[in-house]
Amino acid sequence: MLLEYFGFRLLPFSKEITAAHLFPAAQHQELLARLQYAVRHRAFALLTGDPGAGKSVAIRALYELLDRTRHHFVYIADSRLTPTAFYRDVLTQLGVTAPYHFLSRETRRLFEQTILDGYRLHGQQPVIVLDEAHLLPGPMLQEVRFLLNFHLDSACPMTFVLVGQSELRGLLRLRTFEAIAQRVQVRFHLGPLTEPESIAYILHHLRLAGADRPLFSEQALQKIAAESRGFPRLINSLCTSCLLDACARDQRLIDEANVDRVLLELQDLQAAKGGSPW
Ligand SMILES: Nc1ncnc2c1ncn2[C@@H]1O[C@H](COP(=O)(O)OP(=O)(O)OP(=O)(O)O)[C@@H](O)[C@H]1O
Ligand SMILES: [Mg+2]
Repeated sequence: MLLEYFGFRLLPFSKEITAAHLFPAAQHQELLARLQYAVRHRAFALLTGDPGAGKSVAIRALYELLDRTRHHFVYIADSRLTPTAFYRDVLTQLGVTAPYHFLSRETRRLFEQTILDGYRLHGQQPVIVLDEAHLLPGPMLQEVRFLLNFHLDSACPMTFVLVGQSELRGLLRLRTFEAIAQRVQVRFHLGPLTEPESIAYILHHLRLAGADRPLFSEQALQKIAAESRGFPRLINSLCTSCLLDACARDQRLIDEANVDRVLLELQDLQAAKGGSPW
């Protein structure tokens, strides 16, 4: 519907955006540079940020930049991850099957051996990313300590990146997780876009979609930037709703009234569910 009405080449504000088309905000660029540094130095990195700030997208961009002949990329996002499941999953992604009867300690040993052999024999340096880490159960977070012992070794064989929402920082400040916090070598907290960046972000998406004329009024752009507080996922969702609203009313230009209507609908929806609009 939006494609035909606005004559887009592809749908703007989509989740499917490719790494090459990401909006190059200064912070996002710096984050990518730090992640690349972590890979080069096989460091332990901690990436935090509020929901929808662009953490997972940055990890996807890192993946695209990796030299796959040297870096096997392992990505896990599972809020119910147990240590055994973690080791099994990594091993599977590295092409090794842990025997079914193996218990936690044996699976861990096989993991350690596989990583060390891959490094010594083939120079392999896996990049292991644990996303949604703020949701990880206590035993799995504790297990991260073991993983980081590799990092005590001068010839550490892998890069390990822990990614999670802002509360992960608070979690790691707890005494129980102090040993993990102390071992973080690269840390980055991804904040929201500034107001001018948010507007540039919207225009970037529209340009990618092939819009050949302004589709949002200045006031509409400013309102979306303010209401979204600069979080890309919220900007995407507001902009898409505004485009649909304009399309339903046969409007070619999105103005402040469209944004207000969309915000009101969101509030009504949330009030019915009993939560904040975001
Ligand atoms: N630099 C960017 N360029 C283009 N789009 C982006 C960018 N950063 C984020 N986005 C958009 O914002 C959406 C949310 O980003 P992402 O999924 O990375 O958030 P997150 O920080 O991982 O959130 P959560 O904590 O909920 O997992 C993405 O689907 C993408 O469409
Ligand atoms: Mg994410």
